[in-house]
Amino acid sequence: MTLDRFGREINYLRISLTDRCNLRCVYCMPEDMRFRPRAELLQDGELLLLIRLFTELGFHKFRLTGGEPTVRANVVEMVRAMAQTPGVRSLSMTTNGLLLKQLAGPLAEAGLQRVNVSIDTLDPVKFKRLTRWGDVQDVWEGIEAAEAAGLAPMKLNAVIVRGYNEDDVADLAALTLDHPWQMRFIEMMPFGDVAEFQLAQVITSQAMRATIEARLGPLVPVDGGRLDGEARLYRLAQGQGDVGFISSVTEPFCAFCTRARLTADGKLRMCLLRDYEMDLLTPLRAGAGVDELKALITKAVYHKPWGHGLAHNVVPRNRVMSEIGG
Ligand code: 5AD
Ligand code: SF4
Repeated sequence: MTLDRFGREINYLRISLTDRCNLRCVYCMPEDMRFRPRAELLQDGELLLLIRLFTELGFHKFRLTGGEPTVRANVVEMVRAMAQTPGVRSLSMTTNGLLLKQLAGPLAEAGLQRVNVSIDTLDPVKFKRLTRWGDVQDVWEGIEAAEAAGLAPMKLNAVIVRGYNEDDVADLAALTLDHPWQMRFIEMMPFGDVAEFQLAQVITSQAMRATIEARLGPLVPVDGGRLDGEARLYRLAQGQGDVGFISSVTEPFCAFCTRARLTADGKLRMCLLRDYEMDLLTPLRAGAGVDELKALITKAVYHKPWGHGLAHNVVPRNRVMSEIGG
């Protein structure tokens, strides 16, 4: 078990498999995004070694992110190797869903347990504008393929952006009337060069809730409004699934945070919204032994920042979202 200096048990690692993506969502990256040379990224063997060290330090929950994790060349084989690593109890993925039509079956067979799929609007024109070139039909077919492959329970994510999709929250929430899905609405967070746009166009969870209730009736808190991971869950009167709100900006959940993030370039990032990172790849390539690497991980965990500084206008500057993985 690995504790930080505030006594939080850190046991959940989000692993960015690549900084590349087959979309360019406006809330995530600039259109002319430059990706890192592959030689600067963790290779398969390096990543698998680090995962083994994390499990030995008590990490047991793992989520694969990107960029877009499914564009990593051998994603199915990486999932298989990770799923077979002793100590990996939970293995899931956050994806834009574009490639799930082909990959959901093989990923499930390799040992992936669940997927979170991003879908910010059901309207094809708005979807294209938000993602800069995506086709929402591909995402929809990906969601169906994931369900068919047994990647359940299905969670869907929507980032809401003023001027792009704030009128679509009720249509998205209504998906839970017909499906046993968790539809989660995410407050947009600011990063790097995109921060000014993000801060100006953020829609609060409170505003989203009001829009949904005006169209679909009351949202009743599930479990007395307790946090489920990072989401506060609600249900519509006739709902089969839940409507969740991830209110990182207006109601941070830092006190309950159990996470760390491993970036595709091998840095251990201890808070999504703080620039603090511990480089693991450089020492690994310089020949550091497993005990030395474990000591670096333990040290980074100990120094995990308490929480973000958005309320004091402190915005992470060293990376945009696609370079961290959400
Ligand atoms: N704020 C909040 N969430 C974001 N995501 C991407 N960029 C942002 C942002 N600026 C979400 C994606 C996906 C997850 C990986 O992070 O929509 O669901
Ligand atoms: Fe790609 Fe996800 Fe970023 Fe959209 S949010 S550009 S799908 S990494």
